[in-house]
Amino acid sequence: MRKLLTTTALIALALAGATAGARAADVKEVQMLHWWTSGGEAAALNVLKQDLAKEGYAWKDVPVAGGGGDAAMTALKAMVAAGNYPTASQMLGYTVLDYAQAGVMGDLTETAKKEGWDKAVPEALQKFSVYNGKWVAVPVNVHSVNWLWINKAVMDKIGGKQPKTFDDLIALLDKAKAAGVTPLALGGQNWQEATMFDSIVMSTGGPEFYKKAMNDLDEDSLKSDTMKKSFDNLAKIVKYVDPNFSGRDWNLATAMVIKGDALVQVMGDWAKGEFVAAKKKPGTDYLCYRFPGTEGSVIYNSDMFGMFNVPADRKSAQVALATATLSKSFQSAFNVVKGSVPARTDVPDTAFDECGKMGMANLKAANADGKLVGSLAQGYGAPPAIANAYKDVVSKFVHGQIKTSDEAVQQLVQAIDDAK
Ligand code: GAL
Repeated sequence: MRKLLTTTALIALALAGATAGARAADVKEVQMLHWWTSGGEAAALNVLKQDLAKEGYAWKDVPVAGGGGDAAMTALKAMVAAGNYPTASQMLGYTVLDYAQAGVMGDLTETAKKEGWDKAVPEALQKFSVYNGKWVAVPVNVHSVNWLWINKAVMDKIGGKQPKTFDDLIALLDKAKAAGVTPLALGGQNWQEATMFDSIVMSTGGPEFYKKAMNDLDEDSLKSDTMKKSFDNLAKIVKYVDPNFSGRDWNLATAMVIKGDALVQVMGDWAKGEFVAAKKKPGTDYLCYRFPGTEGSVIYNSDMFGMFNVPADRKSAQVALATATLSKSFQSAFNVVKGSVPARTDVPDTAFDECGKMGMANLKAANADGKLVGSLAQGYGAPPAIANAYKDVVSKFVHGQIKTSDEAVQQLVQAIDDAK
C-alpha cells in the first residue's frame, strides 16, 4: 500500500511537472480574426498559413464573413470585452488606434528594431501601426480604392475605350446599356457604395478637396457645391446598376464582371484578387484603369494585423506572425495573390502583373506628390464612428431614403458632427 501510494504520488508529481512544463512552453499556434472569406482573399491568406506552418505554427482561423469588416469588428469587440484576445486581428487604420488607446495592444517594438521596419514601412502606414512610439500592428499590404475593373470582351464588343473623365465613364456605361449588358456591377451594401463614392469625390473635386473634406473633415468643404456635385454624380452612376444589386456581396459583383455579365466594377484592388483566383489575365481578360479624374492620386487603405497583448506563452507565435508578415518574400507572394501592393518600399515589382506594377508605381508617385490620401470608407480617413456615419448617409442616398444632393450634404455634415 505504502509502495503504491508512493508510486501514485510520484506519478502525480510527474504529471504536475509535465503540465507546468507545457504551461511554461510557448503555444505554437496563431489565432487570427479576419474577414478574408472570398476566393481571392482565402487564397492570399493561404500563403501566410503555409509560411507559418513551415515554421511549425498551427493556424487557428477566426473568419467573420462580410466585406469591409464591419461584422468582424463587432465580433472582435465582443472577444476583447471578454478578455479573450486573438493573437492578431485584421484591422483598418483608425481602428488600430482605438484599440491601442484602450490599452489592449501588445508591443512589437523589439522585433521592429531587429527587422528594420522603421526604414522599410512608409510613413503613412506607420501613423497607424505605431502608437506612442510602440509598434502595435503590422501592415500586410496597401490597397487602393480608385480603380475600375472592366471585362475586356465586353469592352471590345461595345467598342469602348478608357474613360478619361466622369462624363466619358457615363458615356461608356450608356454603350454597355445599349448592348444589353449590365453596365455597373455593384453590391448595394453601405461600405461598397461609400467605397465607390470615395472615388467620385476625388474625381469631382481633386486630391486637395478630397483631403480637406474626407480626411480633415473641414465643414466648408463638406457642405460645398463640390460635395453636392459629388452626390449628383453618384446619382448619375447608380442608375446603371441591375435591379438585384441590393445587399449583393462585393465578390459576386466582381464575378459579374469576370463572367461578362457586367461591364465594370468600381472597387478596391481586392477585386483583382478575384480575377487572379479565376486565372484571368490583365490586358487579355480584363482591364484595370484608375477611376477617371483620379489619375496621379491614390486613395489607400492598408490591412493591418493588430497585435494584442496576449499572455507570455503566446508571444513567440505573435512575433513569428509579425516577422513573416513583413518579410520581403511574403510581401511579394501574398500581394500578388491579394491584388494589393507591398507595405514595404523595398520589394521588387518583378512578380507582379501589369495592374500590380501600375499600383506600385502609382503609390510611389502619389506619395512623392502629396496625393496619397486615406479612404474614408475604408477606415483611413477618420475614426470608425465618423466613417460609419459617412457610409450610412451615402447608402441612404443610393437607396432613395435621402432624395436630393442638398439633403445628402446636410445630413452628412450633421451625422459627422454627431459622431465626433
Ligand atoms: C477591405 C480590406 C480588403 C478586402 C475587402 C473586402 O476592407 O481592406 O483586404 O478584404 O475589405 O473584404
